[in-house]
Formats: sequence, C-alpha cells, structure tokens
Amino acid sequence: MSGKGRLILDDIVRVYRSGGSLFGGKTVVRAVDGVSITLEPGETLGIVGESGSGKSTLGRIAAGIEAPTSGHVTLDGKPYARIGSAAWRRERRGVQMIFQNPSKALDPRMAIGGQIEEAMQAHGMFDAAGRKQRMGEMLALVGLPGMGARFSHQLSGGQQQRAVIARALVLDPKVVICDEAVSALDVSVQAQIINLLNDLKARFGIGYLFISHDLGVVRHISDRIAVMRKGVIVEAGPAAEIFANPQHEYTRSLLAAVPAATPAERRARERLIA
Ligand SMILES: Nc1ncnc2c1ncn2[C@@H]1O[C@H](COP(=O)(O)OP(=O)(O)OP(=O)(O)O)[C@@H](O)[C@H]1O
Ligand SMILES: [Mg+2]
Repeated sequence: MSGKGRLILDDIVRVYRSGGSLFGGKTVVRAVDGVSITLEPGETLGIVGESGSGKSTLGRIAAGIEAPTSGHVTLDGKPYARIGSAAWRRERRGVQMIFQNPSKALDPRMAIGGQIEEAMQAHGMFDAAGRKQRMGEMLALVGLPGMGARFSHQLSGGQQQRAVIARALVLDPKVVICDEAVSALDVSVQAQIINLLNDLKARFGIGYLFISHDLGVVRHISDRIAVMRKGVIVEAGPAAEIFANPQHEYTRSLLAAVPAATPAERRARERLIA
C-alpha cells in the first residue's frame, strides 16, 4: 500500500441527538468535543478515559466507519471517501479495527482460516492458493499454527482474539484501531495479546490507536498517551511522562487505580498526592 500511515484527526466533534425522552425534549450529547490528534506512522497512541468519555466514538471516526459532525480525518494527507462508497470500501483495508469481544467478531459458522482467506478475497488480494498460503503464515505468526480448520467455539477467548488479529493484519493495514481489545480477557492473557500486538507492530511497522479504560493496560503498549474526559483530551504526552508527572487532576485519579511499576514510581506518586 502507498504511504506510511500518518493519521490526523483535526478538531473532531461528534454530537448525538436522541429523540424526545419521557420527561422532556431531545437530549444532545457531545460525545467528542473538539479532538485533534496525530498518530505517527508505526506509533502506538493510547487513548484512556472513564466510561462514556468518547473513546469508542473517536475510534470509530478514526477508523472511518462513522462520520464526525464536524472536523476532518486524513490518512497520509488524504481525507476518507464518503461512507459506503466503493472508494471507501477499498480504503478500509488500510485501517482495521479490533473490538473487545472476539466471539462476536468471528463468524461461528465458518472456520477461522476461511474467514481470513475471505477477508483477503474481499480486497482482491492474491489467488486462492496464495491466500491459503498467506492465511497459514499469518496464523503461525499470531500463535495459532495449523489451526485454520478450527471454528471459533473451539478456541479460547485469547485464541479467538489472535484469530481476529490475524484476519485484520493479513490485509496489511497501516493503522489498527484497538478498542478495548484485551479488556474482556484474563489478566495473564491480556499480557500475551499485548506482547503479540507489540511483536506484530515491530514486524509490520503498523500504527495502533489503542483505546482502553485501563491506564495499566495502555502503559505497556503506548509510546504516547492521550487522556480523554467528557469528549475532550485533557492531557497528552509520552507514556513515561504521563506516568512520572501527570499534570491533570483527572489523570492522577486514573493513575491512582493502577499499581506503581517500581518503588521509585510509587514514591514519586506519593509526593504528587501529598
Ligand atoms: N450511537 C449513539 N447514539 C447516542 N449516543 C451515543 C452513541 N454512541 C455513544 N453515545 C454517547 O456518547 C458518549 C460517549 O460514548 P463512547 O461509547 O464513545 O464512550 P467510551 O469512552 O467508549 O465509553 P466506554 O469506556 O464505556 O466504552 C456517551 O455519553 C454515550 O452514551
Ligand atoms: Mg468504548
């Protein structure tokens, strides 16, 4: 694919209006309220914030599956095509999305190998023999060697998410949006999947927008972190700086829920709180 994968979100606003409620008029939610971020090629940008802060809305807009109310998204300088158009469908190959629940993302009636081949076929990649070979290689890369004939119900939650990752990365995307991609998994499995995502990033040079409500998860994968609250980014910076020297009260409150990685970090935080 051409270009490197610089994703720019410029002053993104997304307003939801819900129909008149039982007790009154329409309610308006500004789910995303003027967010500007740049994901550099090959970078992992973590987005953290409490439930309802607008992370998933921002992720869908970044992935191009939802249009902003105002603002612009460009990938390598090019705005996304109109949602649903043929050009837009082609563009989706370059920006993949991974969600929280892999059992919902996979088709229960088709073996995972077939789903991975189908994804390539939808984008006109290779011939049938080439797709089969690449499917096998991709499954091996994600730690599911020779498991193409398995159905999702024959896999653990962590293995299902590996299959979802294989299906996304086989398309050779420039950017992958991970929305709570490990949140439903056991803590030990979370670490394995994060390691896998890091390995694949190093191998393929992809960028991740890594969304999670859990700052402890985000720290292990992010180069930079943006902290979101009520639709706004309140603080952003290199991951180490956010942890060592959080500027915003809200970031400190999120940090308080995460165990310190080292005694030095714990002491630094105690000084901040004191
Ligand atoms: N399709 C929609 N229609 C109406 N309101 C919506 C819609 N999607 C999201 N919202 C509202 O927008 C706000 C942000 O929601 P969003 O799902 O982006 O938050 P989030 O940070 O991903 O939360 P969580 O951590 O719980 O996943 C919330 O107030 C939510 O109720
Ligand atoms: Mg969400």
